[in-house]
Formats: sequence, C-alpha cells, structure tokens
Amino acid sequence: MTDVLTPVLSKNWGDDRAWTLQAYEDQGGYQALTKALSMAPDDLVTLVKDSGLRGRGGAGFPTGMKWSFIPQDDSAAGNKPKYLVVNADESEPGTCKDIPLMMASPHTLVEGVIIAAHAIRAKRAFIYVRGEVLHVVRRLQAAVREAYAAGHLGSNIHGTGVDVDLMVHAGAGAYICGEETALLDSLEGRRGQPRLRPPFPAVEGLYACPTVINNVESIASVPSIVTGGIDWFGSMGTEKSKGYTLYSLSGHVKRPGQYEAPLGITLRELLELGGGMREGAELKFWTPGGSSTPILTAEHLDVPLDYEGVGAAGSMLGTKALQCFDQTTSVVRCVLRWTEFYKHESCGKCTPCREGTYWLVQVLQRLDQGQGQPGDIELLLDLCDNILGRAFCALGDGATSPITSAIQYFRDEFEAGMHTPSSELFPPVASTLF
Ligand code: NAI
Repeated sequence: MTDVLTPVLSKNWGDDRAWTLQAYEDQGGYQALTKALSMAPDDLVTLVKDSGLRGRGGAGFPTGMKWSFIPQDDSAAGNKPKYLVVNADESEPGTCKDIPLMMASPHTLVEGVIIAAHAIRAKRAFIYVRGEVLHVVRRLQAAVREAYAAGHLGSNIHGTGVDVDLMVHAGAGAYICGEETALLDSLEGRRGQPRLRPPFPAVEGLYACPTVINNVESIASVPSIVTGGIDWFGSMGTEKSKGYTLYSLSGHVKRPGQYEAPLGITLRELLELGGGMREGAELKFWTPGGSSTPILTAEHLDVPLDYEGVGAAGSMLGTKALQCFDQTTSVVRCVLRWTEFYKHESCGKCTPCREGTYWLVQVLQRLDQGQGQPGDIELLLDLCDNILGRAFCALGDGATSPITSAIQYFRDEFEAGMHTPSSELFPPVASTLF
C-alpha cells in the first residue's frame, strides 16, 4: 500500500479562485463531459460499474450497479421520468469532506452530475444540501449559473441532444434528511422521515419515479474515471475497494484536515501524513467513519481502511471520518455526547429509535455523573439489542454502534461510572475535546 497522497478531487483546492468555471476549465475541467456526451448512456454505466467505484457516503454500495437498477425498458417504470439526486446533506459527526469539496471545487460536482444524469437518462437533477451551510448553497448556485451560461447545462447540451436541468435545494438542517428516503420526502416538500425500503429509490424514488441518489464525493469522482479510465482508477486502492478517497482526520492530532489517499491505507499511515498525535497525546480510541461506526482502539492502527479490512475488525468504514481521541478523553462522556445527538436527531417515526435513544441518554447520563446503578451496563446492552435491526432506518443502528463497542473495549470506565463522575476520572485539560 502506497503511503503517498493521491490528490484528484482536492488537487486544485489551494488554487486562486478554484471554484470559478474559468479556474476549473483552465485545469482541464469539463473535458470529461465532452467525452461522456459522445458515449452511449449504457457504456457510461458499464464504465462506472467496471471501475469498481463504491458509494462514498458511508455504505460503499457499488455506484455503477446502482445506476444499472434504473429501468430503461418499455415497462411502466421504464417510461417514467428518471431523476438524479445528490446527497449533500453531510451531517455524520466528524465528517467534513463534501462541504470543502463543494466550496473549493463545485464544478467537479456539477460536471459529475451532468455525466451521471446522461448515463441514467435523467433530464432533471437535484443537489440536496444541508440547510445550515448557506455558504455552500450559494457557491453551488453560482457554479450552476456559470454552467448554464457556458451551455454545460440546459437543453441540447453542446448540440448533443442531451438535456439536463440542475437545481440546488437547501434542506432545513436535520440529520435524518441524509437518509436517502427521508431526503426524498423533504425534497418533495414533506417532513423528512424515512420510507420503507424496498422499493429502493432506484425503482420508486422522487415522485415515485426511478431515482439514483449518490453522495457528493461519489458523483464528483465520476469525471476523473471518464478521463483517467478504469485501469488508472483501479491502480489505487485494494482489489475490492478501488480508487482514491477523502479521509477526514480530526481530534487530538497535529494536523487535522482532509487527506486524499487510496482506499486501504491504514490509520497509522494517515497519522503520519497528519503529523501524528499531538505532543503528549496517545491514541486511546478512534472512529473509522463517524460516530455511527463501532469505535476501534490503538490495536487497530494497521487495519486497512477499506470495506473489507475495517469490516474484519468488527467496525464499518462508513464516511471515512477518522476522529482520534487521546488518553485524556472519557469514553463514557464521548459516547454520551454522540447519543445525545442521536436522541435529538431521531425523527420519532419508529418506537425503538425514538424511545430507545431517550433511555440510552438517561442511563449514560447517570454513568457520566458517577451515579450509575448496578445492572446499568447490561441495561445499555439490552437497549442496544432492542434497537439494532428493529429501527426503521440506519439512524437507530448507528446510535448503538459506539455504545456496544465502547463497552467491549472500555468496560472498566463504564463500571467506574457506578461511583465516580467522568469529570473526576478525566479532569478537563487544555487539549481535551470533551
Ligand atoms: P444501505 O446499505 O441500506 O444502502 C446503500 C445504498 O444502496 C442506498 O442508496 C440504497 O438505495 C442502495 N441499495 C441497497 N440495496 C439495494 C437494492 N437491493 N436495490 C437497490 N438499491 C439498493 O445504507 P444506507 O442506510 O442508505 O446508509 C447507511 C450508511 O450511511 C452508513 O454506512 C453510514 O456510514 C452512512 N451515513 C452517512 C452520513 C453522512 O453524513 N455522509 C450520515 C449518516 C450515515
């Protein structure tokens, strides 16, 4: 595994006014679009399928396969309009890759959208952006205006007969709207709550029509695959997790930030790129992909950050948000903070998640305050067991991951919560995050 950075998406982030059409085209931007428009839609789907690109939003579902689910035959579903929706509702704690990408290089995403829309024969595309990030909404809107003015968007793009309209839609700031079916409800003007799957959006999505929903980074990766080809893309990463990706490194590290590197790199290698842990800080625990993935410890420094390696270690790769915590951090308090987040963001549609996250917070709060009761650890595990696999969407499952894994690795800290507050066990220090 190479230990060097592989800047593709991030290669122009530092350039002067990198977000403008002029700067993007000066660096070869929109050349992939010219090539893609000369290709048959099915050939584009095959290209992305063969590249091995997997969804960068967290689940790692093969992107080309998802595109191929869109019915294109003469059936009732095949004759309905098709839609492309970009999930730009990035909200997973610790995850901060899509927002810098859209701020620094919005045209990479816009170009990817037009290519993907052509591939699935969608005439309308939407970018659903998290409501709090108004600056991102404005930047994307400006890029879309520039793309229309240059003839990259609209009717009969560059005389090819391809029509694509793109709209940027701001959500209202709810974590649940990152769940793809809740996002669709929100985009349709309703309160964002998850729908039962199946049917998956590829069959019945926006306005009950076939819809592809992809993460920002997945779509932004498409132009590079069109120009670079599948051999180039496959030369990075591992056999089953191909290509480069954006890792968000944060916490008690010297140089937190976005690092673009091949899939399959290890946290040890990433920490080297990020200058290592801060002075005096030792790695105690970390998340491979935000707080919805089970935590790992220093034992797992050499686990490959791909869908197989992290999976074998009992976690999930998720959003590739590497949050690193040192020995001054209370695991109980950290898990409590995450669980409070899930309780606050639970949409309330299903009982296991709505009630379960409420009770998890109650129990964790008393353990954090040193007022835990005998049996509280078993109670936490039992509550998690009753949420996992029983909630309507992934939010409930995600809420249980940090708790069960933290108890697995740091049971003694939960036991200490029967008599000693976290604030006494881990007094605040200048560098403490929690
Ligand atoms: P999932 O594995 O159920 O689905 C992934 C994608 O594949 C979806 O687009 C789904 O429609 C599609 N899919 C799966 N099976 C299919 C089938 N049989 N036919 C057609 N399409 C199919 O995962 P889910 O629930 O969509 O997302 C969970 C992930 O989201 C977690 O891994 C988590 O890391 C991530 N996440 C990311 C956040 C962010 O801010 N980026 C926030 C919260 C969670």
